[in-house]
Amino acid sequence: MAALSTSSALDMSVRIGSALLKNPIIAASGCYNRGAEYSRVTDISQYGAITLKSVTRQPRLGNEMPRTMSTPAGMLNAIGLQGPGIEYFLKADAPALAHVPTAVIASVAGFTVEEFAYVAERMDGIPNVVALELDVSCPNVDREGECFAAQPSSIAAVVAAVKKRARLPVIAKLMPNVSDLKPIAKAAQEAGADALSLINAVRGIAIDVKNALPLLANVTGGLTGPAIRPIAVHAVWEVASAVTIPLIGMGGIETGRDALEFLFAGAGAVAIGTANFRRPDVHMEVLAGIVAEMRGRGCERVTSLTGLANPRFAGSRSVEAAVARPKTHLEGAHE
Ligand SMILES: Cc1cc2nc3c(=O)[nH]c(=O)nc-3n(C[C@H](O)[C@H](O)[C@H](O)COP(=O)(O)O)c2cc1C
Repeated sequence: MAALSTSSALDMSVRIGSALLKNPIIAASGCYNRGAEYSRVTDISQYGAITLKSVTRQPRLGNEMPRTMSTPAGMLNAIGLQGPGIEYFLKADAPALAHVPTAVIASVAGFTVEEFAYVAERMDGIPNVVALELDVSCPNVDREGECFAAQPSSIAAVVAAVKKRARLPVIAKLMPNVSDLKPIAKAAQEAGADALSLINAVRGIAIDVKNALPLLANVTGGLTGPAIRPIAVHAVWEVASAVTIPLIGMGGIETGRDALEFLFAGAGAVAIGTANFRRPDVHMEVLAGIVAEMRGRGCERVTSLTGLANPRFAGSRSVEAAVARPKTHLEGAHE
């Protein structure tokens, strides 16, 4: 697909803390590595940023195979944070990041608060890395394996520790497997997070009925792709009423229309993961869809689309909405 030429009249830029991205489309962590493979088949410079696979302090082999499988509307994965660890990453991978033709968001994973802080500190200052995303869906070994993103106090501890040791803007990534995301989001904001990304994969299991065994060696996996989109849009909708920092929405985005759902629910930017595996040009189609919507509405700044459908949107747009907001409606029961 040809690179999209956006009219100079349109301002597609979005801000994540001190980082300014040229457009609001981001490659999601774990689905893009550092873009080297994709750059052979698509124009990765059309992404506003790419997020790296999460990096841990120690090297990790990841889980046993099989660790991915397709599902009717997405996929299940249990990769297990495979990676070379921070020392090797800094030596072998980090230098090439200077040549990535768009901004880079580094993703940090850890199993203790100190591991997060250590890896984040080491990542800070890599050329072209503009922000740090924290994969707080990891189990906290100091709390019997409960995920950091499951408890306000745990997520706050990670964010506060990273903010002390790193200067880059910090994005805390929320997971959907909690009963109420709002207190968790608020705790991350109060601890200093500059933005939140949501959602990480939804927990799931698939069973091989013939052999009466779980299909993934790890038994449980993370469901991603279009199957989780309504869950993800709901998460953005809820969190958008609870915090004022920017939100990066993700979960099943495949088209401009899908991305607009997230923006209208309250996200300032969106990320694409699973869809890259099937359609490496997906980001250009999504960007073109957003541009078409802006032209149709006569709006000049992409930030003015944020929260348009959500009467409880509590964040700020850098400019006033260019179009009238829809009538406030009462949210009722689902059935
Ligand atoms: C194979 C695979 C690996 C992933 N690895 C990570 C990871 O290392 N860190 C992380 O924060 N999220 C990881 N994710 C989650 C994605 O970044 C994203 O939150 C999720 O897939 C939802 O978006 P999607 O439906 O567009 O894929 C991974 C997802 C997939 C499919």
